[in-house]
Amino acid sequence: MRTRFTELFEIDHPLMQGGMQWVGRAELVAAVANAGALGCITALTQPTPEALAAEIAHCRELTDRPFGVNLTILPSITPPPYAEYRQAIVESGVKIVETAGANPAEHLAHLQPAGVKVIHKATSVRHALKAESLGVDAVSIDGFECAGHPGEDDVPGLILIAAAASRVRIPMIASGGIADARGLVAALALGADGANMGTRFMCTVESPIHQRIKQQIVANDERATNLIFRSLGNTARVARNGVSDEVVQRLADGGAFADVRELVAGRRGAKVYETGDPEHGIWWAGQSQGLIDDIPTVAALVARIVGESEKLIAGRLAAIVS
Ligand SMILES: Cc1cc2nc3c(=O)[nH]c(=O)nc-3n(C[C@H](O)[C@H](O)[C@H](O)COP(=O)(O)O)c2cc1C
Repeated sequence: MRTRFTELFEIDHPLMQGGMQWVGRAELVAAVANAGALGCITALTQPTPEALAAEIAHCRELTDRPFGVNLTILPSITPPPYAEYRQAIVESGVKIVETAGANPAEHLAHLQPAGVKVIHKATSVRHALKAESLGVDAVSIDGFECAGHPGEDDVPGLILIAAAASRVRIPMIASGGIADARGLVAALALGADGANMGTRFMCTVESPIHQRIKQQIVANDERATNLIFRSLGNTARVARNGVSDEVVQRLADGGAFADVRELVAGRRGAKVYETGDPEHGIWWAGQSQGLIDDIPTVAALVARIVGESEKLIAGRLAAIVS
């Protein structure tokens, strides 16, 4: 399968692994790259810009294929040193960055002159068009199904991707709720040039999280998520558990961020992935959990999705019109 996305980023398959806090580390990213798809190291998982440079160097030892780095720009009382992380990316020679979370203009001005192509991830048509007008090289659009921050418009991918495809001119990647060949083919049919997956890549052999969390994803169905922070205007889709149920309840009862701060602490969430206790804190996963039944290697997963997509297009779909 060849699309504008595979050509622009010089990859074999129209599949991407977007930024994943605590999960997007060198082993997973290199496995995705070696499978012919586009993987992204998550910059802010690394405690310092120096550690990010070391992680990029480690990934280079594991693959000679292209890979990217995700830079997530989040509102914060004490923001991380974004300019220094960005500098580490540029100096390391990485040529692809996925930005997300806020307007990427400031970063574009430094990344693109250094020869870095930027994919901006958005959750609405208007934000995608804004990113296009700023000159990003591609956009990725996250539908409401996605793990992470789906925005506040609640528009699922079936509408959002098609609506975006009608207006966005640059290469566009569909994201959110995609976990198999049916999702990839649907994304292409809706007008996207490829598909981005988070939750599905999180549940692979090379994903650096505890085996019990992978098993939990396999056991979970499509209802096993919660939307937290709705009343704070910063909606996040996370795995459903006792902690996320409690966060939803406290905020529904009129609570403020201070009332859930301890429950949502990032270090508690990180412990979930380390210890394998799915009830220890908040962890990210999307509705696509309902489509995930196994824990394959990344190579097997990518080969399966690509192979089944080709069969689906040339077989069942072609037969409908023959
Ligand atoms: C564990 C996990 C952590 C994530 N962390 C980030 C992040 O730090 N930055 C970001 O831009 N997106 C993050 N995402 C969102 C993914 O990049 C991707 O957009 C999303 O997972 C797509 O939806 P899906 O999970 O239904 O495939 C995360 C997703 C998961 C599952």
